[in-house]
Amino acid sequence: MFDAEKFIKNAVEEAKETVVGKTIIALSGGVDSSTCAMLVGKAIGKNLVCVFVDTGFMRKNEPERIKEIFETKVNFEFADAQERFFDALKGITDPEEKRKIIGKIYIEIFNEYAEKYKAKFLVQGTIAPDWIETKGNIKSHHNVALPSGMTLELYEPLRDLYKEEVRKVARVLGLSEEISERMPFPGPGLAIRVLEEVTKEKVEIVREADAIVREEISYSNLKVWQAFAVLLEGKATGVKRDKRDYGYMIAVRIVESKDAMTANAKNIKWEILQRIASRITAEIPHVTRVLYDLTSKPPATIEFE
Ligand code: XMP
Repeated sequence: MFDAEKFIKNAVEEAKETVVGKTIIALSGGVDSSTCAMLVGKAIGKNLVCVFVDTGFMRKNEPERIKEIFETKVNFEFADAQERFFDALKGITDPEEKRKIIGKIYIEIFNEYAEKYKAKFLVQGTIAPDWIETKGNIKSHHNVALPSGMTLELYEPLRDLYKEEVRKVARVLGLSEEISERMPFPGPGLAIRVLEEVTKEKVEIVREADAIVREEISYSNLKVWQAFAVLLEGKATGVKRDKRDYGYMIAVRIVESKDAMTANAKNIKWEILQRIASRITAEIPHVTRVLYDLTSKPPATIEFE
């Protein structure tokens, strides 16, 4: 049985011995990085600078909420980098290229903060399945494959944990349910939930659709691993307010999983799916169609890109 208290005690000691002086952490507000921030913060206090990067690809109201939660808990820095990310992704359609570009900008930003604070270490909330999948070459994601140009030394205190264990540690560290039970959300965010080229209009649409999906799932009290919306490439005809509309297609993905290595499409009540579909088409202009993804992982992955 995993003992969260013991883990925390050991991790705090390990952090004290490993990181020296000012240290940067990429705090996204997800359960992994939040737990890491609290843990390493416990070890080195204000010497840990928690940088939240607003990529412009975050979920609805997320940047504001994360700021509110962590401003009082840790040494918090808000990096507004929306334009930088959007500009860099113009014309890019390949998912792995998107990830590489996004990763590169993240590193640039952390290097800038490291220079500002004369920091030598970067703490990351990488957990076991992240590096297992990266090693297996499934996707270049999960924090693990850091682009070259990184001058900071990496420290990953959660490297041997699985998600449920991280959630336990988060609860023991006093993080509220909003964080400890948070759904996983990919680092590149909504940029990989708009298929092919990312535009501001498309990101806004998928952000609204995502908020509706998560809201309906939370009303239904269903426990799911991830529930989200994806904006598909291509268009479909619909009738909105008695007029023909050639609009966007949203795919809804709701999966159950233990560690994201495998996943199953959740068997969702028809009424919930219908409510999601009618809200998305009614509340978001130019969305004419909503589809539910039935595929398991494998052969699909959880994300579409
Ligand atoms: P896939 O799509 O590979 O996703 O089945 C497995 C889990 O990882 C998340 N994911 C990512 N996380 N950066 C991340 O930090 C990424 O580029 C990335 N791609 C996928 C995904 O949401 C799921 O929880």
